[in-house]
Amino acid sequence: MAKPVLLTGIKPTGDLHIGNYFGALKPAIDLFMTGKYNAYLFLADYHTLNFIQDAEEMRRLSRECILAYLAAGLDPARAVVFKQSEVTAHTELCWIFDTITTMPYLERAHAYKDAEAKGREVSVGTFNYPMLMAADILLYDANVVPVGADQKQHVEYARDTAEKFNRVFKEEVFTLPEPIIQEEVAVVPGTDGRKMSKSYGNTIPLFASRDEIAKAVMSITTDSKGDKPEHVFAIHRLVRPEGELMALYEEKRGKYKELKEALIEDLDAYFAPIRAKYDELKGDDTLIADVLAKGGERARAVANAKMERVRAAIGVA
Ligand code: TYM
Repeated sequence: MAKPVLLTGIKPTGDLHIGNYFGALKPAIDLFMTGKYNAYLFLADYHTLNFIQDAEEMRRLSRECILAYLAAGLDPARAVVFKQSEVTAHTELCWIFDTITTMPYLERAHAYKDAEAKGREVSVGTFNYPMLMAADILLYDANVVPVGADQKQHVEYARDTAEKFNRVFKEEVFTLPEPIIQEEVAVVPGTDGRKMSKSYGNTIPLFASRDEIAKAVMSITTDSKGDKPEHVFAIHRLVRPEGELMALYEEKRGKYKELKEALIEDLDAYFAPIRAKYDELKGDDTLIADVLAKGGERARAVANAKMERVRAAIGVA
């Protein structure tokens, strides 16, 4: 029997941060390592285009994202690592979904409502974001989609869209996906206690040097309401067992600077192997090109076969 499919994507609109790592990258890789899934991990560059409209920056961020997958331990010979833009079926299927989707339904998306509330001009691409994401997921018959809590609604949109397509065209073409959201890392907090996010400027970059880690940690806002600095602790528990931390925070009660120093030490040690791998791979352009060429080919084969079924189901073939 075929293994269930795991799929996730990253939209690198800025340097990847440890929220991306703990919220999606690590859960996806851990699940894949169990050997129970076929995995697709991709760079959502056409989603990124809503935010990054500068070719050099797009290339730089795309490279970093692929390096992150590899440095975090993904074996590209086993998992399919690819770029969304290299599989044209994503945008084609997105169009087909547009035709069965209503405006009011998309107006309920959090990302759109937030942009509206902030008075931002919303591009058609941003408005339509959930349909491209539905195509990303449904093309590969993904069963599970490991993501952070902020993407839950998007996976629900994909699920609803699969159901609607199957109902309208009276054929079970698409598999219904489930989000996988690990409770302890559903919302990784940033240096100010809010969700870690590129747009809040509160991130700890995944490939930060020790100095950059130190700078970010020293900027963590400490609230002295409780008996321990909660924002420091909330990040610390990601890289060291809570049992050990309770003892440390008890011993260093009130000594916020020392606790921050301990966090710098622990973050640095935790990410050292990933950073070393990143340093080893970053100059190897052939490797990245090779991974993407092979991944793109494997992804296209699956996506194109699915599109044949879709075209037959809608009556254009
Ligand atoms: P993106 O690029 O914003 O984030 C990538 C992944 O990181 C998770 N994440 C977090 N998790 C916990 N705490 C945080 N502070 C945190 N910040 C980010 C996100 O939830 C996400 O899982 N739309 C997606 C990309 C995408 C996608 C897909 C994902 C496009 N198509 C298909 C899965 C399946 C996005 O913008 O993620």
